[in-house]
Amino acid sequence: MNHGKRVGIVGAGNVGATVAYSLAMLGSAHEVILRDNKIDVAKGKALDMSQAAAAVRSHTVVSVAEDMSQLTNCNVVVVTAGSPRLPGMSRDDLLMINANITKEVIQGIAKYSPNAIIIMVSNPLDAMTYVALKESGFERNRVIGMAGILDSSRMAAFIQEKLGYGGGQIRASVMGGHGDDMVPLPRYSTVAGVPLSDVLSEAEIEEIVHRTRHGGAEIVGHLKTGSAYYAPAKSTAIMCEAILKDTKQIHPCAVYLEGEYGFSDVVSGVPVMLGANGAEKIIEVTLDEKEKAMFARSCASVQSLINTLNANNFFKGAM
Ligand code: LAC
Repeated sequence: MNHGKRVGIVGAGNVGATVAYSLAMLGSAHEVILRDNKIDVAKGKALDMSQAAAAVRSHTVVSVAEDMSQLTNCNVVVVTAGSPRLPGMSRDDLLMINANITKEVIQGIAKYSPNAIIIMVSNPLDAMTYVALKESGFERNRVIGMAGILDSSRMAAFIQEKLGYGGGQIRASVMGGHGDDMVPLPRYSTVAGVPLSDVLSEAEIEEIVHRTRHGGAEIVGHLKTGSAYYAPAKSTAIMCEAILKDTKQIHPCAVYLEGEYGFSDVVSGVPVMLGANGAEKIIEVTLDEKEKAMFARSCASVQSLINTLNANNFFKGAM
């Protein structure tokens, strides 16, 4: 048994379940295992998804772990567990609530799937990735935060909407943390290789940058009772797939920096090469002074969350 690829998903809410569904449709995992305190809901969703997989002749089976001890020997574990972001609530408000949930979940993963690569999705994303790294004791290549793919996809969608053409040909680039001071990089964004500045005015680009920074809140404003999940889940599934298939493709992801871009002991979004060993390589992009300053500001806000955790003795006994 257990010869195939196993992906565990902790938290079977909208994001977790949609990650599972995407993976079941893709067929790159043999088994997707949902773990949620609402066991019956997880069971119902797992059955439904296994049947959807059968409909498309995918061999992926979706099952349920009744507790963390059944989430064994996973290649990848996606963590979406946490309190969701509600209207009017910033990602940072979630800090202490979700840090405690993350701590408990990560201890379970480290015990039962000690060789897994962890993908963090819970907010505040970068700080939770930091917590996961410290609490798991895993090497930094095995603890990766989702969000760069999401934020750059949002930027690409906004570029397409503004242009009215170019769908599927847009490469947008966003670095930094998954917060309001994320770092969209128009200079490194193109439509079929054409620089943005050749097809859009400065004011239009600025509008896209602003909308990208607030892309999550825009959706919360519409949904009212929760936050986005289709694009966050698809972005997560893309990361799982790159790892399971060992593609060595470059995606923007949140990782622990050890001197890259001049920062250490903080998590931020940078381009990384994803493969079977997780974030196998961090790519250092040349940034101009303005971009460097934005990246530094974004790192500083993640750092302030880490400082808050430290001030509350969150890591006491760890490290
Ligand atoms: C978003 C929130 C969930 O970006 O962070 O959609």
